[in-house]
Amino acid sequence: MQLDFQSPEFIANPYPVYARMREQAPVYLLEPGAWVITRYHDVEHLLKSPLLTKDIPSMFNQRYGRSMNDEPVFSFHNIFWTMMNSPHRRRLIVKALNAGKAGELRALVQRSAEQLVDKWMGHGQADLMTVLAYPLPIQVTCNMLNIELDQSLDFLAEIKLILRPAEPNLLTAEELNISNAAALRLESFFRKIWLQRRKQLGDDLVSQLLVAEEDGERLNEDEIIATLIMMFVSGYGTTANALCNILRLLFLYPEQRELLIAKPELLSSAVEEGLRFNSPGPITFRTAMESFEFNGVQIAAGDAVYLALDSANHDPEVFEEPDRFWIERPQSIKKSLAFGLGSHYCLGAKLGTLEVEVTLETLFRRLPNLTIDNIDQIKWEPTWVLRGLESLPARW
Ligand code: HEM
Repeated sequence: MQLDFQSPEFIANPYPVYARMREQAPVYLLEPGAWVITRYHDVEHLLKSPLLTKDIPSMFNQRYGRSMNDEPVFSFHNIFWTMMNSPHRRRLIVKALNAGKAGELRALVQRSAEQLVDKWMGHGQADLMTVLAYPLPIQVTCNMLNIELDQSLDFLAEIKLILRPAEPNLLTAEELNISNAAALRLESFFRKIWLQRRKQLGDDLVSQLLVAEEDGERLNEDEIIATLIMMFVSGYGTTANALCNILRLLFLYPEQRELLIAKPELLSSAVEEGLRFNSPGPITFRTAMESFEFNGVQIAAGDAVYLALDSANHDPEVFEEPDRFWIERPQSIKKSLAFGLGSHYCLGAKLGTLEVEVTLETLFRRLPNLTIDNIDQIKWEPTWVLRGLESLPARW
């Protein structure tokens, strides 16, 4: 089976292709040494398998054919991803993230959403990706860290540069210089914040990262700075796409939107269903640590294994009528894999879900006449590694 994951047909609607793969080639050879796994039970099994590792620093070095550890943009990716492979380090971050009270976090997200809507409500029309979805997670994270959106630092632009190493194409020397410069600017910004909080602790996330302790150990300065930067990086695109993907679905299926407006208690299940239906992080990546046979296929040590979470989330073995967007979906036997599973389960799953829920509620309450033109012609970002819209032009 020859497939083109960059083709406009696949980008517009990958699910029929995934259905064929699940049936005919559930362990699909993408290129020599790289596999794509599409069935729910297989993806679930491999997410928990000790035979695979999520070693992003080694993956970078292998792709560039040299050690990238000294390049600033890679060095804090390295620090952070090394922490993600340490259950102990992860526990410290989770402790800090959960240190505040849940009600306070909801209020903080609410304040962030209202602040943004206030800014452009009077305009009558706007692209919701630009004015709401992208700025929202940045605003929330700034409020969590108790920092002002710095006028001298365009967070969104810097984050995009920091994320470049994760894109499918290798960075050119010039792109690497630009991303390195962004990494250094962010690092110096957060080092100043770290110093301030160390002198005077507050009740913000930076202070919580400073005091989080397990078995007498704490996070060091470089780890805290890498975590702060990666909180922005990991949370902004996924949350922005989650929000607009769900909005698109609610306008594409107006009877589901009307149902939600009539029964606001369905908000959580609508968000869960939207995350299943168009998962913003559709794919995750692992490396085989040793050779093993899987479903009759020989996977070699060092092979790349792509786990197609959004294919798993449309597997009829697990989800009844998987291609139906159904906010009153009956409980299925298994949860959607939109946040992954096991030792690398998304650290921001609670926060991301809360951001989407609160913003949807705010939007429908404050803009009751919200409409989206040509909803069936909205375009997807032309990439396989995330599922998000190019824009979401709205009127109210
Ligand atoms: C609705 C929004 C979000 C979605 C759909 C989402 C989805 C995901 C997925 C699919 C993974 C990969 C899991 C794996 O490789 O097995 C992941 C990992 C991660 N996410 Fe999220 N995420 C969201 C929001 C956030 C937010 C707000 C944050 C930060 C506060 C965050 C931080 C992370 C981190 C740090 C990881 C890496 C975990 C690891 O590799 O151990 N995410 N997320």
